[in-house]
Amino acid sequence: VGKHFLAQLSSLLPQYPQLTVSLISRSTKSLYMSNFNDPGLNLSTWEQDLSKSPQPVLDIHQTLAHLSSAPGQKKILVDNTSSPEIASTYPLFLKKGISIITPNKKAFSGPLSSWQAILSSAHSPQNPSGGHIYHESSVGAGLPIISTLQDLMATGDTIQRIQGVFSGTMSFLFNNFAPASSSSDGSSINDNDHHHHHQSGGPKKWSAEVQKARDRGFTEPDPREDLNGVDVARKLVILARIAGLGVEGVDAFPVESLVPQELRVCESAEEFMARLPEFDGRMEDVKSAAEREGKVVRFVGSIEMASKDVRVGLEGFEKGHAIAGLKGSDNIVSFYTERYGENPLVVQGAGYVSSLLLAS
Ligand SMILES: NC(=O)c1ccc[n+]([C@@H]2O[C@H](COP(=O)([O-])OP(=O)(O)OC[C@H]3O[C@@H](n4cnc5c(N)ncnc54)[C@H](OP(=O)(O)O)[C@@H]3O)[C@@H](O)[C@H]2O)c1
Repeated sequence: VGKHFLAQLSSLLPQYPQLTVSLISRSTKSLYMSNFNDPGLNLSTWEQDLSKSPQPVLDIHQTLAHLSSAPGQKKILVDNTSSPEIASTYPLFLKKGISIITPNKKAFSGPLSSWQAILSSAHSPQNPSGGHIYHESSVGAGLPIISTLQDLMATGDTIQRIQGVFSGTMSFLFNNFAPASSSSDGSSINDNDHHHHHQSGGPKKWSAEVQKARDRGFTEPDPREDLNGVDVARKLVILARIAGLGVEGVDAFPVESLVPQELRVCESAEEFMARLPEFDGRMEDVKSAAEREGKVVRFVGSIEMASKDVRVGLEGFEKGHAIAGLKGSDNIVSFYTERYGENPLVVQGAGYVSSLLLAS
């Protein structure tokens, strides 16, 4: 994400001549302006410049000092890590009027007190000198989920329920394992909706779908990190808090893990993948149970505002439901509100930006 961010920024710089990139870090290297009278960092050569940088690596507190001493009225920290340590320092930046842009979920889905510390340090009518904080991509990657929710609330609508598929990986797995229309991924032919009770092209094994997703780079190196539901739970915490529920964290509501209990102890991802086929029967049962009700199974997150009920896990959907008809690794989020009534506002699209995948 960091690399692609810099590539996008590079193409935008001509439009923003007043913008200077003063520091670029990865965990083991830093590259920064040691004299603010010099020109800013060169975004065409940053990768080589960073890798051969002789400068000492700056930790996040030294980064704060660097930005604080930089001239200029508006300063921004872009955090493209998933580091909880970096996330825990956001209030320090915000209090100094430094704005933050980040896809990192940790700060917003961690302890409620951390979230409150961010809110009270950020720019607001009561705190006009605080920095701004934008984290749209922490939920739904490139899709406008957070801004849509904030906009609905700011214009006086009442949120009743939010429900969706919040993981590109889970989307891909279930759209293939239990397609709503039997030809949805093009891998089975000679079948149509009239025959949807029959398997065609051979039964789809859950473990084979996980392997396929892993081979295509749709999962974390250890797919258990996708299958345990925690990443989806973090996104639900973020949305629930924005919607006004003071959710304590990912442990405060039911999160269904698709990692069999017996495989949580596997030492390596390879051992996990090798043993996953032993458990194919369980997912097959879940799929058949849904099919008997004319439904397909999907891994979803939901927030019920009235009952304050947040949950993450498997659920069956009628085949005509928007969630059942999802394709590829798309995400979908439905906002049920007072104004939208029975027809929710739906945001749907690529869960990853494809150029990220192509390049990685
Ligand atoms: N990939 C997506 O489609 C997507 C979508 C939505 C949100 N996100 C979020 O975006 C963030 C980045 O994702 P990614 O896929 O790009 O992850 P990634 O490939 O693991 O990259 C993380 C980068 O952060 C650097 N880093 C880690 N700790 C650091 C520290 N303390 N100081 C400086 N740099 C540090 C790492 O540097 P080294 O390489 O030197 O260790 C690495 O370059 C995550 O929070 C992720 O959840 C990603």
